[in-house]
Amino acid sequence: MANISISDVRKSYGKDEVVHGVNLEIANGEFIVILGPSGCGKSTLLRMIAGLESISAGQIAIAGTVVNDLEPRERGCAMVFQNYALYPHMTVAENIGYALKVSGMAKAERLEKVRVVAASVGLSEFLDRRPGQLSGGQRQRVAMARAIIREPRVFLFDEPLSNLDAKLRVQMRHEIRRIHNRIKATSVFVTHDQQEGMTLADRLVVMNKGNIEQVGTPEEIYHSPASVYVGGFIGSPAMNFLSGQIVAGGVMLANGGKIPLPQALAVAHNGSLAQIGLRPEELTLVPAGKGAFDATFEFSEELGPSRLYHFQFEDLTLSVLSADKPPVEQGKPMGIRVEAGSVHLFAADTGKRLRAREAVAQPELVV
Ligand SMILES: Nc1ncnc2c1ncn2[C@@H]1O[C@H](COP(=O)(O)OP(=O)(O)O)[C@@H](O)[C@H]1O
Ligand SMILES: [Mg+2]
Repeated sequence: MANISISDVRKSYGKDEVVHGVNLEIANGEFIVILGPSGCGKSTLLRMIAGLESISAGQIAIAGTVVNDLEPRERGCAMVFQNYALYPHMTVAENIGYALKVSGMAKAERLEKVRVVAASVGLSEFLDRRPGQLSGGQRQRVAMARAIIREPRVFLFDEPLSNLDAKLRVQMRHEIRRIHNRIKATSVFVTHDQQEGMTLADRLVVMNKGNIEQVGTPEEIYHSPASVYVGGFIGSPAMNFLSGQIVAGGVMLANGGKIPLPQALAVAHNGSLAQIGLRPEELTLVPAGKGAFDATFEFSEELGPSRLYHFQFEDLTLSVLSADKPPVEQGKPMGIRVEAGSVHLFAADTGKRLRAREAVAQPELVV
Protein backbone atom coordinates (compact mmCIF):
# COMPACT_ATOMS: atom_id res chain seq x y z
CA MET A 1 0.00 0.00 0.00
CA ALA A 2 1.19 3.46 -0.75
CA ASN A 3 0.38 7.07 -1.35
CA ILE A 4 0.97 8.56 -4.79
CA SER A 5 2.28 12.06 -5.37
CA ILE A 6 1.96 13.53 -8.85
CA SER A 7 3.78 16.86 -9.33
CA ASP A 8 3.45 19.00 -12.46
CA VAL A 9 3.43 15.93 -14.70
CA ARG A 10 3.38 16.47 -18.44
CA LYS A 11 3.26 14.18 -21.43
CA SER A 12 4.08 15.02 -25.02
CA TYR A 13 3.91 12.85 -28.10
CA GLY A 14 6.27 14.60 -30.49
CA LYS A 15 5.19 18.24 -30.45
CA ASP A 16 1.74 17.50 -29.05
CA GLU A 17 1.43 17.95 -25.30
CA VAL A 18 -1.55 15.84 -24.17
CA VAL A 19 -1.16 16.10 -20.36
CA HIS A 20 -0.46 19.67 -19.25
CA GLY A 21 1.08 19.81 -15.81
CA VAL A 22 -1.07 17.67 -13.53
CA ASN A 23 -0.79 17.88 -9.72
CA LEU A 24 -2.53 15.30 -7.55
CA GLU A 25 -1.98 13.81 -4.10
CA ILE A 26 -3.51 10.37 -3.57
CA ALA A 27 -3.66 9.11 0.00
CA ASN A 28 -2.75 5.61 1.11
CA GLY A 29 -5.78 3.35 0.71
CA GLU A 30 -7.81 5.90 -1.22
CA PHE A 31 -10.04 4.94 -4.18
CA ILE A 32 -9.51 7.67 -6.80
CA VAL A 33 -11.52 7.82 -10.02
CA ILE A 34 -10.16 9.78 -12.98
CA LEU A 35 -13.16 10.83 -15.02
CA GLY A 36 -13.41 12.54 -18.38
CA PRO A 37 -14.45 12.07 -22.01
CA SER A 38 -12.49 9.99 -24.49
CA GLY A 39 -9.16 11.54 -25.45
CA CYS A 40 -8.74 13.80 -22.39
CA GLY A 41 -5.57 12.03 -21.22
CA LYS A 42 -6.86 9.60 -18.55
CA SER A 43 -5.09 6.50 -19.85
CA THR A 44 -1.90 8.45 -20.51
CA LEU A 45 -1.82 9.65 -16.89
CA LEU A 46 -2.53 6.14 -15.58
CA ARG A 47 0.12 4.58 -17.82
CA MET A 48 2.67 7.13 -16.56
CA ILE A 49 1.92 6.01 -12.98
CA ALA A 50 2.29 2.37 -14.05
CA GLY A 51 5.52 3.03 -15.93
CA LEU A 52 4.11 1.91 -19.28
CA GLU A 53 4.59 5.42 -20.66
CA SER A 54 7.55 7.74 -20.02
CA ILE A 55 6.99 11.02 -18.16
CA SER A 56 7.93 14.05 -20.31
CA ALA A 57 8.23 16.46 -17.35
CA GLY A 58 7.44 16.53 -13.64
CA GLN A 59 7.60 13.80 -11.06
CA ILE A 60 5.61 10.81 -9.81
CA ALA A 61 6.39 9.34 -6.40
CA ILE A 62 4.90 6.17 -4.92
CA ALA A 63 5.27 5.70 -1.14
CA GLY A 64 7.80 8.51 -1.06
CA THR A 65 10.06 7.12 -3.80
CA VAL A 66 10.33 8.92 -7.14
CA VAL A 67 9.48 6.30 -9.76
CA ASN A 68 10.11 8.30 -12.97
CA ASP A 69 13.01 6.06 -13.95
CA LEU A 70 11.79 2.77 -12.44
CA GLU A 71 10.63 -0.13 -14.58
CA PRO A 72 6.91 -1.03 -14.35
CA ARG A 73 7.64 -4.17 -12.31
CA GLU A 74 9.69 -2.14 -9.81
CA ARG A 75 6.76 0.17 -9.01
CA GLY A 76 4.52 -2.29 -7.16
CA CYS A 77 1.45 -1.48 -9.26
CA ALA A 78 -1.00 -4.00 -10.69
CA MET A 79 -2.97 -2.93 -13.74
CA VAL A 80 -6.45 -4.23 -14.64
CA PHE A 81 -7.39 -3.55 -18.26
CA GLN A 82 -10.60 -3.60 -20.25
CA ASN A 83 -9.61 -6.75 -22.15
CA TYR A 84 -8.46 -8.98 -19.34
CA ALA A 85 -5.87 -10.91 -21.40
CA LEU A 86 -6.33 -14.21 -19.56
CA TYR A 87 -4.39 -17.26 -20.76
CA PRO A 88 -7.08 -19.28 -22.60
CA HIS A 89 -5.35 -22.66 -22.25
CA MET A 90 -4.87 -22.32 -18.48
CA THR A 91 -7.47 -23.02 -15.81
CA VAL A 92 -8.76 -20.24 -13.57
CA ALA A 93 -6.46 -21.45 -10.78
CA GLU A 94 -3.45 -21.45 -13.11
CA ASN A 95 -4.29 -18.00 -14.41
CA ILE A 96 -4.59 -16.59 -10.89
CA GLY A 97 -1.41 -18.29 -9.67
CA TYR A 98 0.72 -17.67 -12.75
CA ALA A 99 2.71 -14.69 -11.40
CA LEU A 100 3.54 -16.65 -8.24
CA LYS A 101 4.64 -19.66 -10.27
CA VAL A 102 6.94 -17.49 -12.38
CA SER A 103 8.40 -15.98 -9.22
CA GLY A 104 9.25 -19.48 -8.03
CA MET A 105 6.86 -19.88 -5.09
CA ALA A 106 6.50 -23.49 -3.88
CA LYS A 107 3.42 -25.30 -5.19
CA ALA A 108 1.65 -25.95 -1.89
CA GLU A 109 1.99 -22.35 -0.76
CA ARG A 110 0.91 -21.09 -4.17
CA LEU A 111 -2.22 -23.24 -4.29
CA GLU A 112 -3.20 -22.11 -0.82
CA LYS A 113 -2.87 -18.44 -1.84
CA VAL A 114 -4.88 -19.07 -5.01
CA ARG A 115 -7.59 -20.70 -2.91
CA VAL A 116 -7.82 -17.74 -0.51
CA VAL A 117 -7.79 -15.06 -3.23
CA ALA A 118 -10.29 -16.96 -5.39
CA ALA A 119 -12.64 -17.20 -2.41
CA SER A 120 -12.33 -13.45 -1.80
CA VAL A 121 -13.68 -12.69 -5.29
CA GLY A 122 -16.25 -15.53 -5.35
CA LEU A 123 -14.43 -17.86 -7.74
CA SER A 124 -14.00 -20.95 -5.54
CA GLU A 125 -16.33 -23.07 -7.66
CA PHE A 126 -14.65 -22.18 -10.93
CA LEU A 127 -11.00 -22.94 -10.26
CA ASP A 128 -10.84 -25.83 -12.74
CA ARG A 129 -12.58 -24.06 -15.62
CA ARG A 130 -10.89 -22.32 -18.50
CA PRO A 131 -11.62 -18.67 -19.35
CA GLY A 132 -13.72 -19.75 -22.36
CA GLN A 133 -16.15 -21.47 -19.98
CA LEU A 134 -16.74 -18.32 -17.90
CA SER A 135 -19.12 -15.38 -18.23
CA GLY A 136 -17.71 -11.88 -18.79
CA GLY A 137 -18.15 -11.02 -15.13
CA GLN A 138 -16.39 -14.18 -13.98
CA ARG A 139 -13.48 -13.43 -16.31
CA GLN A 140 -13.32 -9.95 -14.84
CA ARG A 141 -13.05 -11.48 -11.40
CA VAL A 142 -10.21 -13.73 -12.56
CA ALA A 143 -8.41 -10.61 -13.80
CA MET A 144 -8.96 -8.97 -10.41
CA ALA A 145 -7.78 -12.07 -8.54
CA ARG A 146 -4.67 -12.25 -10.68
CA ALA A 147 -3.87 -8.66 -9.68
CA ILE A 148 -4.78 -9.13 -5.99
CA ILE A 149 -2.58 -12.19 -5.54
CA ARG A 150 0.52 -10.13 -6.28
CA GLU A 151 -0.35 -7.97 -3.27
CA PRO A 152 0.37 -4.75 -5.15
CA ARG A 153 0.80 -1.45 -3.36
CA VAL A 154 -1.38 0.21 -5.97
CA PHE A 155 -4.21 -0.98 -8.23
CA LEU A 156 -4.58 0.77 -11.55
CA PHE A 157 -7.78 0.22 -13.55
CA ASP A 158 -8.24 1.42 -17.12
CA GLU A 159 -11.96 1.24 -17.94
CA PRO A 160 -12.13 -2.40 -16.85
CA LEU A 161 -15.94 -2.57 -17.08
CA SER A 162 -16.48 -0.96 -20.48
CA ASN A 163 -16.95 -4.27 -22.33
CA LEU A 164 -19.67 -5.57 -20.02
CA ASP A 165 -23.42 -5.25 -20.42
CA ALA A 166 -25.24 -2.74 -18.22
CA LYS A 167 -26.36 -5.11 -15.47
CA LEU A 168 -23.00 -6.80 -15.15
CA ARG A 169 -21.24 -3.45 -15.05
CA VAL A 170 -23.20 -2.54 -11.96
CA GLN A 171 -22.53 -5.91 -10.33
CA MET A 172 -18.81 -5.67 -11.03
CA ARG A 173 -18.73 -2.10 -9.78
CA HIS A 174 -20.10 -3.37 -6.47
CA GLU A 175 -17.63 -6.24 -6.54
CA ILE A 176 -14.67 -3.89 -7.03
CA ARG A 177 -15.86 -1.68 -4.19
CA ARG A 178 -16.30 -4.69 -1.88
CA ILE A 179 -12.83 -5.94 -2.72
CA HIS A 180 -11.43 -2.46 -2.09
CA ASN A 181 -13.15 -2.22 1.28
CA ARG A 182 -11.58 -5.53 2.22
CA ILE A 183 -8.00 -5.05 1.04
CA LYS A 184 -7.80 -1.23 1.12
CA ALA A 185 -5.08 -0.93 -1.53
CA THR A 186 -4.58 2.49 -3.06
CA SER A 187 -6.61 2.43 -6.29
CA VAL A 188 -6.75 4.64 -9.35
CA PHE A 189 -9.67 3.86 -11.64
CA VAL A 190 -10.10 5.49 -15.04
CA THR A 191 -13.54 5.79 -16.66
CA HIS A 192 -15.55 8.02 -19.01
CA ASP A 193 -18.77 6.94 -17.26
CA GLN A 194 -19.80 9.59 -14.75
CA GLN A 195 -22.17 7.28 -12.91
CA GLU A 196 -19.45 4.68 -12.48
CA GLY A 197 -17.12 7.41 -11.22
CA MET A 198 -19.66 8.91 -8.82
CA THR A 199 -20.53 5.56 -7.27
CA LEU A 200 -17.01 4.12 -6.91
CA ALA A 201 -14.86 7.05 -5.89
CA ASP A 202 -13.69 8.28 -2.53
CA ARG A 203 -12.54 11.28 -4.56
CA LEU A 204 -13.17 12.13 -8.19
CA VAL A 205 -10.67 13.79 -10.49
CA VAL A 206 -12.46 15.39 -13.45
CA MET A 207 -10.19 15.87 -16.47
CA ASN A 208 -10.66 18.11 -19.49
CA LYS A 209 -8.24 18.17 -22.43
CA GLY A 210 -5.15 17.15 -20.51
CA ASN A 211 -5.89 19.27 -17.42
CA ILE A 212 -7.51 18.51 -14.09
CA GLU A 213 -10.70 20.56 -13.94
CA GLN A 214 -11.78 19.65 -10.39
CA VAL A 215 -10.90 17.26 -7.57
CA GLY A 216 -13.36 16.45 -4.81
CA THR A 217 -15.68 13.90 -3.26
CA PRO A 218 -18.56 12.89 -5.53
CA GLU A 219 -20.89 14.97 -3.31
CA GLU A 220 -18.72 18.09 -3.46
CA ILE A 221 -18.50 17.86 -7.22
CA TYR A 222 -22.20 17.20 -7.67
CA HIS A 223 -23.26 20.04 -5.35
CA SER A 224 -20.55 22.52 -6.26
CA PRO A 225 -19.19 21.93 -9.77
CA ALA A 226 -16.26 24.28 -10.42
CA SER A 227 -17.23 24.97 -14.02
CA VAL A 228 -19.88 24.59 -16.71
CA TYR A 229 -17.80 21.68 -18.02
CA VAL A 230 -17.96 19.78 -14.72
CA GLY A 231 -21.62 20.66 -14.11
CA GLY A 232 -22.55 19.35 -17.55
CA PHE A 233 -20.44 16.21 -17.25
CA ILE A 234 -21.53 15.11 -13.75
CA GLY A 235 -25.14 14.20 -13.02
CA SER A 236 -27.77 12.22 -14.88
CA PRO A 237 -30.12 13.46 -16.29
CA ALA A 238 -27.77 16.24 -17.35
CA MET A 239 -27.80 19.75 -15.89
CA ASN A 240 -29.84 22.38 -17.81
CA PHE A 241 -28.05 25.56 -18.88
CA LEU A 242 -29.59 29.01 -19.41
CA SER A 243 -27.94 32.38 -19.90
CA GLY A 244 -28.75 35.78 -18.49
CA GLN A 245 -27.57 38.87 -16.64
CA ILE A 246 -27.25 39.16 -12.87
CA VAL A 247 -29.42 41.90 -11.34
CA ALA A 248 -30.59 42.67 -7.81
CA GLY A 249 -31.88 39.42 -6.30
CA GLY A 250 -31.56 37.23 -9.35
CA VAL A 251 -30.75 36.62 -13.00
CA MET A 252 -32.76 38.11 -15.88
CA LEU A 253 -32.86 35.30 -18.41
CA ALA A 254 -32.05 35.93 -22.07
CA ASN A 255 -35.19 33.90 -22.86
CA GLY A 256 -37.40 35.94 -20.51
CA GLY A 257 -38.21 35.32 -16.86
CA LYS A 258 -36.17 35.85 -13.73
CA ILE A 259 -34.42 33.25 -11.60
CA PRO A 260 -33.87 33.99 -7.90
CA LEU A 261 -30.34 34.01 -6.47
CA PRO A 262 -29.07 34.07 -2.89
CA GLN A 263 -28.64 37.74 -1.96
CA ALA A 264 -24.88 37.60 -1.36
CA LEU A 265 -24.27 35.95 -4.71
CA ALA A 266 -26.37 38.49 -6.63
CA VAL A 267 -24.67 41.41 -4.86
CA ALA A 268 -21.18 40.02 -5.51
CA HIS A 269 -21.73 39.74 -9.26
CA ASN A 270 -24.38 42.38 -9.98
CA GLY A 271 -24.37 43.30 -13.69
CA SER A 272 -22.30 40.29 -14.85
CA LEU A 273 -23.33 37.99 -17.66
CA ALA A 274 -23.76 34.46 -16.43
CA GLN A 275 -24.57 30.91 -17.36
CA ILE A 276 -27.03 29.29 -15.00
CA GLY A 277 -26.95 25.58 -14.27
CA LEU A 278 -30.18 23.97 -13.04
CA ARG A 279 -30.30 20.31 -12.12
CA PRO A 280 -33.47 18.59 -13.41
CA GLU A 281 -34.09 17.05 -9.96
CA GLU A 282 -34.03 20.47 -8.26
CA LEU A 283 -36.75 22.07 -10.40
CA THR A 284 -40.46 21.91 -9.55
CA LEU A 285 -43.41 21.97 -11.94
CA VAL A 286 -46.15 24.48 -11.04
CA PRO A 287 -49.12 25.96 -12.96
CA ALA A 288 -48.22 28.35 -15.80
CA GLY A 289 -47.41 31.85 -14.53
CA LYS A 290 -46.53 30.63 -11.02
CA GLY A 291 -42.86 29.78 -11.57
CA ALA A 292 -39.64 31.64 -12.50
CA PHE A 293 -40.63 31.18 -16.14
CA ASP A 294 -43.00 29.16 -18.32
CA ALA A 295 -41.92 26.43 -20.73
CA THR A 296 -43.83 24.31 -23.24
CA PHE A 297 -44.20 20.62 -22.46
CA GLU A 298 -43.00 18.29 -25.22
CA PHE A 299 -42.84 14.72 -23.89
CA SER A 300 -41.93 12.73 -20.81
CA GLU A 301 -40.01 9.56 -19.97
CA GLU A 302 -41.29 7.27 -17.22
CA LEU A 303 -38.45 6.14 -14.94
CA GLY A 304 -40.48 4.31 -12.29
CA PRO A 305 -39.80 6.23 -9.06
CA SER A 306 -39.82 9.49 -11.00
CA ARG A 307 -40.66 10.92 -14.42
CA LEU A 308 -38.41 13.01 -16.65
CA TYR A 309 -40.32 15.85 -18.36
CA HIS A 310 -38.93 17.57 -21.44
CA PHE A 311 -39.80 21.17 -22.24
CA GLN A 312 -39.11 23.73 -24.92
CA PHE A 313 -38.12 27.14 -23.53
CA GLU A 314 -37.79 29.53 -26.47
CA ASP A 315 -34.79 28.15 -28.38
CA LEU A 316 -33.69 25.78 -25.59
CA THR A 317 -34.71 22.37 -24.35
CA LEU A 318 -34.97 21.82 -20.62
CA SER A 319 -35.71 18.80 -18.47
CA VAL A 320 -37.37 18.44 -15.07
CA LEU A 321 -37.24 15.28 -12.94
CA SER A 322 -40.28 14.85 -10.73
CA ALA A 323 -41.22 12.15 -8.24
CA ASP A 324 -44.70 13.73 -7.89
CA LYS A 325 -45.43 13.19 -11.58
CA PRO A 326 -48.01 15.98 -12.07
CA PRO A 327 -50.27 15.71 -15.13
CA VAL A 328 -49.18 17.83 -18.12
CA GLU A 329 -50.50 18.35 -21.63
CA GLN A 330 -48.41 18.22 -24.75
CA GLY A 331 -47.86 21.68 -26.26
CA LYS A 332 -49.15 23.48 -23.14
CA PRO A 333 -47.08 25.77 -20.90
CA MET A 334 -46.08 24.83 -17.35
CA GLY A 335 -44.43 27.02 -14.73
CA ILE A 336 -40.89 26.02 -13.68
CA ARG A 337 -40.11 26.89 -10.07
CA VAL A 338 -36.46 27.43 -9.11
CA GLU A 339 -35.15 27.64 -5.53
CA ALA A 340 -32.46 30.31 -5.12
CA GLY A 341 -30.21 27.87 -3.23
CA SER A 342 -30.20 25.34 -6.05
CA VAL A 343 -28.90 27.67 -8.77
CA HIS A 344 -25.39 26.95 -10.07
CA LEU A 345 -23.92 30.21 -11.32
CA PHE A 346 -21.02 30.38 -13.80
CA ALA A 347 -19.25 33.28 -15.53
CA ALA A 348 -20.50 33.62 -19.12
CA ASP A 349 -16.98 34.13 -20.50
CA THR A 350 -14.79 31.67 -18.54
CA GLY A 351 -17.42 29.11 -17.56
CA LYS A 352 -15.98 29.10 -14.01
CA ARG A 353 -18.24 28.94 -10.97
CA LEU A 354 -19.18 32.30 -9.45
CA ARG A 355 -19.19 32.32 -5.66
CA ALA A 356 -20.29 34.90 -3.12
CA ARG A 357 -17.14 36.73 -2.03
CA GLU A 358 -15.54 36.05 1.37
CA ALA A 359 -17.21 37.47 4.50
CA VAL A 360 -20.88 37.93 3.66
CA ALA A 361 -23.81 38.82 5.87
CA GLN A 362 -25.77 35.60 5.27
CA PRO A 363 -23.29 32.75 5.09
CA GLU A 364 -26.08 30.15 5.21
CA LEU A 365 -27.22 31.34 1.79
CA VAL A 366 -23.83 31.08 0.13
CA VAL A 367 -23.66 28.42 -2.58
N1 LIG B 1 1.02 6.70 -28.44
C1 LIG B 1 0.45 7.87 -28.74
N2 LIG B 1 0.95 8.66 -29.72
C2 LIG B 1 0.38 9.85 -30.01
N3 LIG B 1 -0.70 10.35 -29.40
C3 LIG B 1 -1.26 9.61 -28.43
C4 LIG B 1 -0.72 8.33 -28.05
N4 LIG B 1 -1.49 7.84 -27.03
C5 LIG B 1 -2.45 8.76 -26.81
N5 LIG B 1 -2.31 9.82 -27.63
C6 LIG B 1 -3.17 11.01 -27.66
O1 LIG B 1 -3.18 11.56 -26.36
C7 LIG B 1 -4.47 12.04 -26.02
C8 LIG B 1 -4.95 11.40 -24.74
O2 LIG B 1 -5.15 10.02 -24.97
P1 LIG B 1 -5.63 9.03 -23.83
O3 LIG B 1 -4.79 9.24 -22.63
O4 LIG B 1 -5.66 7.67 -24.42
O5 LIG B 1 -7.11 9.55 -23.54
P2 LIG B 1 -8.30 8.84 -22.73
O6 LIG B 1 -7.75 7.64 -22.04
O7 LIG B 1 -8.80 9.89 -21.80
O8 LIG B 1 -9.35 8.49 -23.75
C9 LIG B 1 -5.36 11.78 -27.21
O9 LIG B 1 -5.44 12.93 -27.99
C10 LIG B 1 -4.62 10.68 -27.95
O10 LIG B 1 -4.89 10.74 -29.32
MG1 LIG C 1 -8.29 5.59 -22.26
